[in-house]
Amino acid sequence: MGLIGPGFIAAQHIEAVRRLGNVEVVALAGSSRESARRRAAEWSVERSYGDYRELIADPDVDVVHNTTPNHLHLEVSLAALAARKHVISDKPLSDSAQHSRTLWQAARRAGVAHVVTFNYRGNPLVQEARAMVKRGELGPLCYVHGQYLQDWLADERVYSWRLDPARGGASSALRDIGSHWCDLAEHVTGLRIEAVLADLGTVVAQREVPRAAGGTFSRASTGGRRAGRAQRRRVRIKSEDLATVLLRFRGGAKGCVAVGQVLPGHKNDLQLEVCGRKASVRWLQERQNELWIGRFGQPSLVVGKDPAILSADAARYAHLPAGHQEAWADAFRNVIADAYQWIREGAKSQARPAALATFADGYRSDLLVEAMLASHAAGGVWRKVPQPA
Ligand SMILES: NC(=O)c1ccc[n+]([C@@H]2O[C@H](COP(=O)([O-])OP(=O)(O)OC[C@H]3O[C@@H](n4cnc5c(N)ncnc54)[C@H](O)[C@@H]3O)[C@@H](O)[C@H]2O)c1
Repeated sequence: MGLIGPGFIAAQHIEAVRRLGNVEVVALAGSSRESARRRAAEWSVERSYGDYRELIADPDVDVVHNTTPNHLHLEVSLAALAARKHVISDKPLSDSAQHSRTLWQAARRAGVAHVVTFNYRGNPLVQEARAMVKRGELGPLCYVHGQYLQDWLADERVYSWRLDPARGGASSALRDIGSHWCDLAEHVTGLRIEAVLADLGTVVAQREVPRAAGGTFSRASTGGRRAGRAQRRRVRIKSEDLATVLLRFRGGAKGCVAVGQVLPGHKNDLQLEVCGRKASVRWLQERQNELWIGRFGQPSLVVGKDPAILSADAARYAHLPAGHQEAWADAFRNVIADAYQWIREGAKSQARPAALATFADGYRSDLLVEAMLASHAAGGVWRKVPQPA
């Protein structure tokens, strides 16, 4: 494999691939020859390139991981697909639904594996919740709700390319993390969100940007806090850092989700609860080894992750016995393992592991985000989520 965009999440891609034990990390490409060389040395990657096209042209690279900022996803993934390389893109698939549609179509034409790392699907208890819904244990679903709240953008002296529409896309919090929640809600329930009503806000409307902004969570992007006044400039923020969205699912279930990245104390607070007529199930990312199962007229339960009692679809994502905690990086590894299993099976559509998100899911996610933006722009009215065209 070769990786393009060696920043924050790239380290997780490299680590996950290495844990598989049967995939060689051949090369990485960065924004300059020097930064790529430095990162390659740090991560013990043999080859480094200052231009992503050189990496794609490397005959030893069969699979391209795209972990560049959102605005580069389109050109980088398109170039990899044109060279008929398998592509594992981090989410969001691109910076707009139109670009994601182009990528989805190009991937289908290329006949290669096309994966989007909606990594929360790789958690064993997420798969258990999905299996419970599928088996009908919850009864007909009536309400799906939750939140994805963070606080890393709470300080006005912190800045990320995500807040710049030219690099992150028109949406910030919704595209960055709301996309994860919606993907998870649809994956677990098996239901499509068909309409949305969104109320968006920008709580931190001005930020002080360090002149040398770096990658996500890097010293430079959070370094505004330490930088002197002369090293900072003020920037007006237009994209949302807070959103509340009402949801209508196909089949009649209702829902709502809150998304924000400026809410003190919330670190990676993704919560999903699915309520049916017979039972409810709730998964909290920050307590990801537990699943709450709520019932009427019977005791509710908190079930710990235990491969011995999980359904087969979920147990394959658990690698340690009960009582041994598994975490974010393990779920990420599970998604990467599924991706390479698909690739080894020739990327045939019938061989795709059921939990693996593809460019079709990435495109779908962007349609959802844009329906939310349109709902808010129209004054907070219901908007139908368009079908993929
Ligand atoms: N799955 C997840 O939970 C998750 C988490 C974080 C980020 N992401 C996604 O991963 C992507 C990257 O985010 P990040 O947080 O790692 O950002 P980052 O800013 O830390 O890293 C991006 C990297 O891309 C490099 N880059 C910029 N231009 C380049 C070019 N022309 N060629 C090659 N490299 C170039 C940058 O120098 C940097 O090293 C985003 O799309 C983001 O949404 C996903």
